[in-house]
Amino acid sequence: MENIFNPIKSRFKEPLIKNMCEYNELMDKFKGDYEGTWASFADEKIDWFKKYDTILDESNAPFYKWFTGGQMNVAHQCVDRHLDTKKNKAAIIFEGDNGDQQILTYRELAYEVNKTANMFKNKFDVKKGDRVVVYMPMIPEAAVVMLACAKIGAIHSIVFGGFSAEALRDRIIDAEAKLVVTADGAFRKGKPYMLKPVVDKALEEGCECVSKVCIVERNGEDIEWVAGRDYSYNELVKTESSVCAAEPMDSEDPLFLLYTSGSTGKPKGVQHSSAGYILWAQMTMEWVFDIQDNDTYWCTADIGWITGHTYIVYGPLAAGATTVMFEGVPTFPDAGRCWRMVEEYKINQFYTAPTAIRLLHKTGAHEPSKYDLSSLRILGTVGEPIDPPAWKWYYEEVGGSQCSIVDTYWQTETGGHMISPLPAATPIKPACATFPLPGIMAEIIEEDGTPVEIGEKGFMCVTKPWPSMIRTIWNDGERFKKSYFGDCKKDGQPVYFTGDGAMMSEDGYITITGRTDDVINVSGHRMGTAEVEAAVKKHDNVASVAVVGKPHEIKGEGIFAYVVLKSVPSNHNDQTADEFEVMKEINNIIKTEIGAIALCDDIAFVPDLPKTRSGKIMRRILRSIVKGEAITQDTSTLEDPSIVGKIEEIVNR
Ligand code: PRX
Repeated sequence: MENIFNPIKSRFKEPLIKNMCEYNELMDKFKGDYEGTWASFADEKIDWFKKYDTILDESNAPFYKWFTGGQMNVAHQCVDRHLDTKKNKAAIIFEGDNGDQQILTYRELAYEVNKTANMFKNKFDVKKGDRVVVYMPMIPEAAVVMLACAKIGAIHSIVFGGFSAEALRDRIIDAEAKLVVTADGAFRKGKPYMLKPVVDKALEEGCECVSKVCIVERNGEDIEWVAGRDYSYNELVKTESSVCAAEPMDSEDPLFLLYTSGSTGKPKGVQHSSAGYILWAQMTMEWVFDIQDNDTYWCTADIGWITGHTYIVYGPLAAGATTVMFEGVPTFPDAGRCWRMVEEYKINQFYTAPTAIRLLHKTGAHEPSKYDLSSLRILGTVGEPIDPPAWKWYYEEVGGSQCSIVDTYWQTETGGHMISPLPAATPIKPACATFPLPGIMAEIIEEDGTPVEIGEKGFMCVTKPWPSMIRTIWNDGERFKKSYFGDCKKDGQPVYFTGDGAMMSEDGYITITGRTDDVINVSGHRMGTAEVEAAVKKHDNVASVAVVGKPHEIKGEGIFAYVVLKSVPSNHNDQTADEFEVMKEINNIIKTEIGAIALCDDIAFVPDLPKTRSGKIMRRILRSIVKGEAITQDTSTLEDPSIVGKIEEIVNR
């Protein structure tokens, strides 16, 4: 029999959704009056400057609009509106890699946001609608910069600090950013690392849109200053006023862009709205993390990813919570770092990726027992499937079998959680995302909208628009339609397809089975095979390449490349050494083009790729080979059927 874990009720005082009856009632309410129920939450949660006229505008589907005619401001929602009741409450607790600590109360955060917002306006001429690219480490100033953009209506586009200069440049150009905000660098595993030189390199060509760079001092290392372009944040912000009125923003005004990988082409700039996004960020924070006034909440993500946006900055602050920001890595200086922090800050909700859980399990299985972790009430996971052994360790060793685990399924495009247990209500099955959250019409269907049979795999779709959904791909509405509304229909109408497969058990539990497209999930980070392949092809000696995901003990999936070389190394006596050299060169190119997160774990040099007669690469065969699975596909239609055996031999030797 399957294990089911019921919430430990004594750990919860006043959860918003107390049991499955309440969950079902709320879901029924949405089903009975979808728009009206969303409106009642928007009325309750958002501090509107001007009330909206229309709840949902579907006239230009799939470019849905929510709460049109309404005005509000996300920075006001996250900071200013709390000042009456929480001005002295900690908004952000920061812990540096080196153990530095800093606490910003809501009042201090408001001051910093206002000063920074004024600096953006006065010193950098940033106006409503301008794009600001943020390339920063995990320091409080990063959150301040995000909120300062929101305060004046500028659209931020955060680029993860692990991306290379090339990747940063692509994103700057696509967003036509006016300003780049960065830091000299930061600290990682006890050592300084640099960010500003990467910005310098990115701006070397093609970024004429950027006139200024604003640099926060973090690690104090020497950097080059370009006169007339580079300015010190720390110097400029000093003289700014700490009073700044919030720009009234229309509900649909973009709050931010965040680039993410698709199955084809370059990364796409996912555009999120102001009102709908923040509403769901706040609601899920309250429902899924059961945020209570005295809680201290910690999400270990980086602000460069959507999890950092919604569940380090916007969600927690909109909910008036105390959010922990951590600059370092979970295993430095030792595998007890996280648990020491949980004990010290009395963390109530801990939210991380399965990759981190597997790593902490492997490197310090018994570390949790050395600390007092009794403050924990909810443990969260995000970004990739969690495997049952990791789940068990998390539940038993970290949670002491007393915490609810919320396996949250969602995406950059969904803005916030879609499918997740409710911690005080949902009986949990290990490694299962369980049920759609109230208001989310998630359905597992076939392409034509037919619901799939119990236990069968289908397409994970959301069949009604919801407030925090992606609005478009920046500058590319057609790609938006094609990427998300091109595959599945219900009642003849295109519906949002996540790109994931899923299945449902007899009792309605949803398990995500993984991507159905060519996106690889490395350590919970999305990597497009097309992007990696484009980088590999830049190597002079590469004739063709196909990249697939290979199961990886810690990272979930690693990147595996099949490469056909133009000329096979001449010295056949030492072919392996030559191939090793080429592999190093290829990975150097990937590092330059994308960043270290996209490095290939392994490369197989093969004589050719399995192609159909029309030239299409049969990736499914390549995926099966790397997983050691039997080839079930019909290989007789291949241009050269014998290639499969040859590749298998190379991979397995
Ligand atoms: O495949 C799903 C996987 O991560 C993808 C979204 O990646 P990204 O946009 O980078 O956002 C990650 C953080 C929300 C999804 O299409 N994924 C996300 N959460 C889960 C998951 N797979 C299984 N279980 C999850 N809980």
